[in-house]
Amino acid sequence: MPSNPTSTRVQSLDERIATSEGKRRYVRTLFATIADRYDFITPLMSYGQDRRWKRRLVDLAAPSDGARTLDLATGTGDIAFALAARGARVIGLDVTRRMIELARAKASTERSTVTFLVGDMLALPFPSGSFDIVTTGYGLRNVPDLGAAIDEVGRVLKSGGQALSLDFDRPSNRLIRAVYLTYLSLVGAVLGWMLHRDPDTYRYIPASIRQYPGADAVARLMAARGFRRVRHYPVLGGLMAIHHGFRD
Ligand SMILES: C[S@@+](CC[C@H](N)C(=O)[O-])C[C@H]1O[C@@H](n2cnc3c(N)ncnc32)[C@H](O)[C@@H]1O
Repeated sequence: MPSNPTSTRVQSLDERIATSEGKRRYVRTLFATIADRYDFITPLMSYGQDRRWKRRLVDLAAPSDGARTLDLATGTGDIAFALAARGARVIGLDVTRRMIELARAKASTERSTVTFLVGDMLALPFPSGSFDIVTTGYGLRNVPDLGAAIDEVGRVLKSGGQALSLDFDRPSNRLIRAVYLTYLSLVGAVLGWMLHRDPDTYRYIPASIRQYPGADAVARLMAARGFRRVRHYPVLGGLMAIHHGFRD
């Protein structure tokens, strides 16, 4: 049967984020949509564990007083505020303007000294060697080019400076991966429908994990791109991970 040249098939979520440009566009729309509910949904989806994981990352960073610190994909600023509370001088950067507005509002009520900026972690507005510490929570999985993001982190770090990233892992066991991703898809679809009338909203999480190379591969990529003593610590029984490495 001849196909109708004017018909357009609706792309699946996986297809929409399969290309760099598609993922870039999707991620920007997604986080602008969910920003106002982000602080509600994150503890809900992590069963209240998210704060604990972020605390662990900040413990590993152990910033010295006045350490120049950049938190990428800062969202509403959890990690940035926690680092500042330990004495670091912190800039939080995020591509979603609404996230930054919310972070700034929190900063003024908490009387925090964190500076928040709108920006893209793939093109950071800082000279090379500006920071002692660069952190990100759920940042690396969301960029369209993981290698380029790691290079940018490396560029803005001083020699000997440390990079830390908290994110989901991609379980290597196929059965565990299938169960885990199915579970996240079901929960995500229900929450997406309830909160945004769009089941794909939080199904993005498992879709992005499917495309993510996993914690081992991210560690190898960091090592190949100029980081040393790269380690990753399993979180939530290995379903998530914290990466930690030092700039050469
Ligand atoms: C899941 S949220 C994480 C927020 C925060 N780090 C946390 O741990 O709660 C992911 C954030 O990444 C941001 N983001 C996505 N792509 C980005 C990019 N290219 N540059 C900077 N931020 C980005 C989104 O706007 C969103 O706020």
